[in-house]
Amino acid sequence: MKRPMHLNLFIQSRGHHEASWRHPGSSRLPLTDIGYTIDLARKAEAALFDSIFLADVLGLWNDVEKTPFNWLEPITTLAALATTTSKIGLIATASTTYTEPYNLARQFSSLDHISNGRVGWNIVTTWSPQAGSNFGGIGQVGHADRYERAEEYMAVVKGLWDSWSDDAVLDDREGGRYADAARVKPINHTGTHYKVAGPLNLPRSPQGRPVLVQAGSSDSGRRFAARHAEAVFTAHLEKATAKQFYADLKSLVAEYARTPEDVVILPGFSPIIGSTEAEAKRYADELNALTDPEIGRQRLSLRFGGHDFSHLPLDRPLVPEDFPDPRDNDAARSRTEIFVGYVRTEKPTLRQLLAKLAGARGHFTFEGTPEQVADLMEDWIDDGAADGFNLMPPVLPEMLDIFISEVVPLLQRRGLFRTSYEGHTLRAHLKLSRPSSPGAL
Ligand SMILES: Cc1cc2nc3c(=O)[nH]c(=O)nc-3n(C[C@H](O)[C@H](O)[C@H](O)COP(=O)(O)O)c2cc1C
Repeated sequence: MKRPMHLNLFIQSRGHHEASWRHPGSSRLPLTDIGYTIDLARKAEAALFDSIFLADVLGLWNDVEKTPFNWLEPITTLAALATTTSKIGLIATASTTYTEPYNLARQFSSLDHISNGRVGWNIVTTWSPQAGSNFGGIGQVGHADRYERAEEYMAVVKGLWDSWSDDAVLDDREGGRYADAARVKPINHTGTHYKVAGPLNLPRSPQGRPVLVQAGSSDSGRRFAARHAEAVFTAHLEKATAKQFYADLKSLVAEYARTPEDVVILPGFSPIIGSTEAEAKRYADELNALTDPEIGRQRLSLRFGGHDFSHLPLDRPLVPEDFPDPRDNDAARSRTEIFVGYVRTEKPTLRQLLAKLAGARGHFTFEGTPEQVADLMEDWIDDGAADGFNLMPPVLPEMLDIFISEVVPLLQRRGLFRTSYEGHTLRAHLKLSRPSSPGAL
């Protein structure tokens, strides 16, 4: 029996392809209709996915005229999903740069209670320049500073989650004791960026702590993940870079006294599935015909923190020197490393690069039959590139429906995916241990 894979459904807009919102296979419901998101989460749960995930960028991207890259606020959305699903894990992004740790700790603790232990936090430091301009107090924070703040942030949040031991609540009506005060402790944190007394105003949550997910893949991001993350989202345009990332992160975790199984690595995967390869390619052509390269050019600029690419012609092969050095990029550093690496190996024109990125913003895209999709997924797992996938359907719900009806049964027949849920928490689905209660501190 092979090692079963993990599957997360990344729900975003009407699909991950830039033009999905115009495609007949995408939903016509408003993106503000909670029924749309609930329906997708329920489909993923019926198909036994480990989790769903909602991103958050804390600002409107610069292309609202041409693409709906906006959606309901993720933490409140998770609360709605927690009461309308019962088994599937629920993961949302929240920013260490632009959220107070006390608030974040209690929101995710609350969600873990509301969902009976199914919540995960995607820890991001927020790269997008828009976020900086929306949070006037602190403004935009440089790459190194963001990760440095995030370190202190984690100490505070973990301390708050652990400020109640598992057995602190007595609820003894006859004896008149609600809690054992000796098991509820302040954290008295005073650091460079935060001063938080604690304790949290909520008992310890069902999973002990919500599952910690992370999605930054630069050098600093990897070190941060190796210290804290239990699941990692990552973007790759080629299997080769996904393999390097996988090997690097799994060996880094050992430096922090953790084992490779303590971190589940989930690269993004955006398949267009057809009953024949030609049908899948036709679908991709249909989608690509609905895109506008100028949207792609603006998005590229955003990833590089606002760099001006307006002078680049669309139809000459690119060279790495056409881009600023990603190592100096304060915005989406690892994603731009992936873009420039792809330019170095594949030498696309700007038009070709933008078409590639329109599919899933730098995640792996693929067109093929259900068998080819299952083969590819099996190969990535066997070849040490992934523990599972962050599925990013290019068009929602159509490509999710096809994945569930055509690919999931193939994976199950090959012994690569569960046929029932064995537990009811996200930790159980991901085979992660529950952090031990601090006990009497
Ligand atoms: C699947 C995935 C989801 C992400 N979701 C978010 C998000 O919701 N909000 C955000 O600000 N950044 C998000 N990111 C970006 C990363 O958190 C990170 O900020 C970015 O990769 C830059 O950091 P790095 O240079 O360390 O990689 C996501 C990345 C990946 C791969």
